[in-house]
Amino acid sequence: MTDLPPPRNPGSYSIAVVCLGNICRSPMAHVVLSAAIADAGLDDRVEVVSAGTGDWHVGGPMDRRAAAVLTSHGYDATRHRAQQFQPSWHDEHDLVLAMDAQNHADLRELATDLAGTEERLRLFRDFDPLADDGDRDVPDPYYGGDEGFDHVMSIVRRTSDALVDRLARVVN
Ligand code: 4NP
Repeated sequence: MTDLPPPRNPGSYSIAVVCLGNICRSPMAHVVLSAAIADAGLDDRVEVVSAGTGDWHVGGPMDRRAAAVLTSHGYDATRHRAQQFQPSWHDEHDLVLAMDAQNHADLRELATDLAGTEERLRLFRDFDPLADDGDRDVPDPYYGGDEGFDHVMSIVRRTSDALVDRLARVVN
């Protein structure tokens, strides 16, 4: 696991989680990570947003299978509306977390200042305590069955807990 990049403004932190469509993986990470941040009492200092590299679903709710898994674990999935990542977000967030290697490559292409962006552009599973060094993708569940969404949920929950431990050290 790597360290978090330092905050741009001491005492606060902003994270963007990004997948392809912003209807499955990054909304799940957004909801679960936001709840873990609130549980840790850090929600006055840490903000989370999510987006897709693609624009197909902009303005729409998350995938009903993602919403069902979140709801079954007690989370609120109703407030999500899909957004597309904008290049300016690279300059606005402390950390941009790509859900897979393709998302990471696509986000890198959008960087106007590559040197400044690279430190803050990471894979979500760089912070997964159980990630395998050879495979750091959060697998895209969109074309598969319900078990893919359960798998994403378990990755997202343990990685969010690990991120919150690090965030507490950075903003406290
Ligand atoms: P996500 O999944 O990137 O986890 O939101 C997908 C959602 C939609 C599509 C692909 C992946 N799509 O092709 O519309």
